[in-house]
Amino acid sequence: MTANEIFEELNPPPRLMMGPGPVNVDPRVLNAMSMPLLGQFDPAFTEYMNEVMVLYRQVFQTENRWTFMIDGTARAAIETFMVSVIEPGDKVLVPVFGRFGHLLTEIAERCAADVEIIEVEWGEVFDPQQIEDAVKRVRPKVVALCQGDTSTTVAQPLAEIGEICARYDALSYVDATASLVGMDLPVDKWKIDCVSVSLQKCLAGPPGIAPITFNDRVAEIVNRRKHIEKGIRPDGFEAAGGPMVASNYFDLGMLMDYWSEARLNHHTEATSMLYAARECARVVLKEGLQASFDRHALASRAMVAGLEGLGLRVFGDKSHKMPNVTGVYIPDGIDGEAARAEMLHDFGIEIGTSFGPLHGKIWRIGAMGYNCQKHNILICLAALEATLRQHDVSMPAGGGVDAALVEYRAVGQ
Ligand SMILES: Cc1ncc(COP(=O)(O)O)c(C=O)c1O
Repeated sequence: MTANEIFEELNPPPRLMMGPGPVNVDPRVLNAMSMPLLGQFDPAFTEYMNEVMVLYRQVFQTENRWTFMIDGTARAAIETFMVSVIEPGDKVLVPVFGRFGHLLTEIAERCAADVEIIEVEWGEVFDPQQIEDAVKRVRPKVVALCQGDTSTTVAQPLAEIGEICARYDALSYVDATASLVGMDLPVDKWKIDCVSVSLQKCLAGPPGIAPITFNDRVAEIVNRRKHIEKGIRPDGFEAAGGPMVASNYFDLGMLMDYWSEARLNHHTEATSMLYAARECARVVLKEGLQASFDRHALASRAMVAGLEGLGLRVFGDKSHKMPNVTGVYIPDGIDGEAARAEMLHDFGIEIGTSFGPLHGKIWRIGAMGYNCQKHNILICLAALEATLRQHDVSMPAGGGVDAALVEYRAVGQ
């Protein structure tokens, strides 16, 4: 490559992305992203912003007025919540059951929180009683945890967590990046104070915008430190007493002003990403949330049956398995990264590697969003079988596809 080279037209190779995300984007979303741009105060555009809020209230199953988009990937919304709510020295409790619990911990530490973690082994989840005991002991301002942690492929049951936190006057925050619309998360019913996600998993969109929802308990805490940039301050505005949020881009108070009727200018909204978010939600709501949960659950049963049909062993506590990602042990003597590279080279299929204590031990195979369809599960299993045969792993011929098909046939597909 030379410094003044002009490259070929962008032409990415076709891929079937069966990893833990990102995954192939629904063509309807790609289409929406190619629509003409509008100015951020064009009434047509502000109407799209309003529509996005209406759509995501349904996706999150909430009546939270504060339901909008943070520009950036999933962690942009995590940082927005934390930097806007946590003040230096505040106690934060993080139940860690995988890599993304450590991410929540790290972000809270960057906000100068006094962070306490509780941990279970990767592949397991917490009994709600363990979380309650820790909340009782630590008395945190915030309890932050994941729903599905893609690094371990298991999902924490959350139905009781919001209630537990409320009982001890703690705010509950859930990172549902990897699970929303792949499994149920009724935000209001489960009394969770704040949830954030991104598009690149079960919502079948690209990374780059992060939906968030939070209730008035959170809004009230944010407003106690409300500040507005000097150049756009309305006459007579006086900043609240609390410490100024240490980020302009992620200041939730200013973002609330931008997204509400006040429409106070903040960043320039990422137009094409907003179109993508709108289409992702529209597509999933048109299918129906329950239909989306069922589609992911069926794919999970088929993937597990298929992998076991090949004589492979599935990782983690199966009773808490995420429907959209499956961990599978790499057979003895196989170089997991070499086999993954061959899947990509020979079949154009990407499956996932793993992190931390699981690195080199398991692959993570995803089936989510637009990719969560019967033919993709079958193609992936057939390709995995062929790849492992190249390495002399002996397996029942066609055992993966046959077993997966049994699951689909059982529901008439
Ligand atoms: C549960 C969870 N949280 C957070 C993230 C971080 O997402 P991003 O890379 O979009 O910032 C991921 C990404 O895989 C995730 O699975």
